[in-house]
Amino acid sequence: VAMEHPVKLIANALGSPPQDVIDQAHAKGVLVAALAGKAEHARRHVANGVDIVVAQGHEAGGHTGEIATMVLVPEIVDAVDVPVLAAGGIGSGRQVAAALALGADGVWMGSYWLTTQEYTQSLGESAMQQALLAATSSDTVRTRIYTGKPARLLKTKWTEAWAEEEAPQPLPMPLQNLLVAEAHDRISRANDPAVVSMPVGQIVGRMKQIKPVAEVMETLLAETRETLDRLRNLRG
Ligand SMILES: Cc1cc2nc3c(=O)[nH]c(=O)nc-3n(C[C@H](O)[C@H](O)[C@H](O)COP(=O)(O)O)c2cc1C
Repeated sequence: VAMEHPVKLIANALGSPPQDVIDQAHAKGVLVAALAGKAEHARRHVANGVDIVVAQGHEAGGHTGEIATMVLVPEIVDAVDVPVLAAGGIGSGRQVAAALALGADGVWMGSYWLTTQEYTQSLGESAMQQALLAATSSDTVRTRIYTGKPARLLKTKWTEAWAEEEAPQPLPMPLQNLLVAEAHDRISRANDPAVVSMPVGQIVGRMKQIKPVAEVMETLLAETRETLDRLRNLRG
């Protein structure tokens, strides 16, 4: 479906895209990125023909591995010779500058866009966003209850119920998603901030206001420049 649109990039999590997808993308001049939680994943992506590796650390929202961004990014930068984007826990210019210092060519952000005005407009007033704005960086949990594979979600009554001793074990992917799909629909209709089911990373603790994307970008760029200048002045 993506290939039928004028996209410039496709990105794949949970492994490289299938070879025919990589070939089709390249035939149309579309770049292919893939997420990696280990240097080994990154090497495999490049061997499969992936153009850009997204080094995504443990603190990220959604499916995520066990190695923190701080450790993972330089490992992946050293392991491959394609551009690397740092991901996981980025929501300020200081974090962008840190990612560049770790050797990344750029950054890839996910969670932070969930509290942008554009996303709010597409959803209407949502309990999910209220819950995100109220959360601290301690309020996430990496759990298999969303899809069957470890993913970082907002900690709510729903994730806590699954963590109880007598709760069943999540099913393997793709069965868990089928099992909880109806419950997720009901949760979404209930519109209760205490029971949302939402992937988000630890950076949620910095997401305190709904802002337009343009303002988020401006602030990120200004703070990145300011940080790089500050670091330049530390020299010698
Ligand atoms: C709500 C949500 C959904 C996501 N869905 C996908 C997805 O379908 N495919 C994918 O490659 N990454 C997905 N991600 C991961 C992002 O691409 C990105 O790597 C991650 O959010 C970066 O970490 P951050 O959340 O700390 O910014 C998702 C992340 C979030 C928060």
